[in-house]
Amino acid sequence: MCGIVGYTGPRAAGPILMEGLKRLEYRGYDSAGIALVDDGGDLFVEKKAGKLANLEIAIADRTPHAAIGLAHTRWATHGRPNDLNAHPHQDCTGEITVIHNGIIENFRDLRDGLAARGHKLTSETDTEALAHMVEEAYAGDLADAVRAALRLAEGAYAIAVMHRGEGDRLVGSRKDVPLVVGLAEGESFLASDVAAILAHTDQVIFLEDGDVADLRPWGVTITDVDGAELQREITTIDWTPEAAEKGGYEHFMLKEIHEQPETLHQTIAGRVTRENHIWLEEFEGFDETIRNIDRVELIACGTAYYAALVGATAIQDWVGIPARATVGSEFRYNPPPLDGRTLVISVTQSGETADTIAPTRLARDRGAPVIAVTNTVGSAITREADRILFLRAGPEIAVAASKTFVAQVTTLVILAAAIAKARGALGAEQELELGAALHALPAGATRALENATGIADLARRYVNSRGFMFVGRGYTYPTALEGALKLKEVSYVHAEGYAAGEMKHGPISLLDAECPLVAVATRSSVYEKLASNVMEGRARDARVIAVATEGDTQIERFADDICWVPDTHEALSPVLAIIPLQLFAYHVAIARGTDVDQPRNLAKSVTVE
Ligand code: AGP
Repeated sequence: MCGIVGYTGPRAAGPILMEGLKRLEYRGYDSAGIALVDDGGDLFVEKKAGKLANLEIAIADRTPHAAIGLAHTRWATHGRPNDLNAHPHQDCTGEITVIHNGIIENFRDLRDGLAARGHKLTSETDTEALAHMVEEAYAGDLADAVRAALRLAEGAYAIAVMHRGEGDRLVGSRKDVPLVVGLAEGESFLASDVAAILAHTDQVIFLEDGDVADLRPWGVTITDVDGAELQREITTIDWTPEAAEKGGYEHFMLKEIHEQPETLHQTIAGRVTRENHIWLEEFEGFDETIRNIDRVELIACGTAYYAALVGATAIQDWVGIPARATVGSEFRYNPPPLDGRTLVISVTQSGETADTIAPTRLARDRGAPVIAVTNTVGSAITREADRILFLRAGPEIAVAASKTFVAQVTTLVILAAAIAKARGALGAEQELELGAALHALPAGATRALENATGIADLARRYVNSRGFMFVGRGYTYPTALEGALKLKEVSYVHAEGYAAGEMKHGPISLLDAECPLVAVATRSSVYEKLASNVMEGRARDARVIAVATEGDTQIERFADDICWVPDTHEALSPVLAIIPLQLFAYHVAIARGTDVDQPRNLAKSVTVE
């Protein structure tokens, strides 16, 4: 939710930290703050409510030269998003500075105890309690004090702490929230996400739950919370720094939409042979587990949940066993029966979504085998899974997911086919047909983008609509849900995603000339059924925008405006059909002047319940 970054080394910390915050702002943008210990040993702290730009203005021309510092961008949980509650927070002495991502669940008790012992807490945050706890425990060694404080804290956290008197030392720790150590020649970094430090190093350590990292410019020591030293592997990141730049596009969302053909190439690479056979390296040694399952539960949130709906349909269709997708926040407190015969597939771009991780852990504790589908190497979900399928989509910076949705759908379709194949349920012809469609998918996405030249104009024509109803059936239903989510997320216009057949059971009363119907009407086994439902809407004066398959000669019967996409395998149709809808959402947002990459109230990775 929040983003944290820290630096210790010979270079000027201020610009490095501010650059890092820019890369992390997608995680939250309610306020931003920075703390530096300058070359004279004095502490400089500035924090401002609102976006990073406010902090930039506040520190312009007065940032001291410093070789150590930390910085934070906030998505508010405890305490309003004002200057006072912005991080960093300090202790009573002003020597100790803390930034934090997550929630300290026992913060009320901790704050009460601290207040009773005479500490003056000035903000409403849980984080400030940590600064005072470190102060109480401090006896000349910052790492010892942090460990002592953390032994009393309950909840989820990634923190970075510095002490004004301990020169070049930064201490970080994590539990249930990501934190990465970056290592370069003579300098060290801490960050919520590699994107913040990728310009400086590709050598990182993904900290594990309970790790305490003691950073100096020349290296890092990692211990557990009791001080026992731990060895952690260094990972080389293969994303280029440019991958986290806009690359000439006005917004990250637009860039990421246009990256989809390349994303699909990466996602499919090595998973479909030249002869169109499906092959998953990640399944090696897992076949027996797959043969023993009798049910599949997919867990995910938001966009990932809509991709999971596609996966569930494909698994049920091809494997012939029950498969369903449930949003993580519902699964967690109302789980189905779970055992070793229930395969759990958890889908999460960030790999850090609390609502997805907690039910995955619960399923695992009950003996269910777990496959994680994620974009993020080293993320929390990877520690909960028996097998991991990476999306290989590269960094997605815009808060609204686009390229990771198509990567998730594609990965899940491949996974469904691999499960069916392992159980002997996938016919040879069926496999080859799917394999060929997968090979053609990147070119299909390029063509869908080429076809979309009129979408900005379409968006301007519909921008003043009261609301939108998105409908689909079968495989096109999750696309309708995702199209509606994209529109409401970035443009703040109300949009409803519905199963087309359900419209007549209530929502049809919303339709009139001011509420257009967006029909995801690509070629499918239920095309005619969908067409009838759309006709019902049209009879209520709703204008109809259709996403249709090139060559469809029927669509003009019921659509006022048509977005064409190339034909593909029905199970992969969401991958191409979503492209014009992503662009529609983007252009409606532009026409309405909203903040496309950082829509209000949202954060990219939601690490709280
Ligand atoms: C997507 O546009 C959203 N911002 C959101 O629904 C997101 O998909 C959801 O929070 C799940 O995130 P995850 O994939 O990182 O778990």
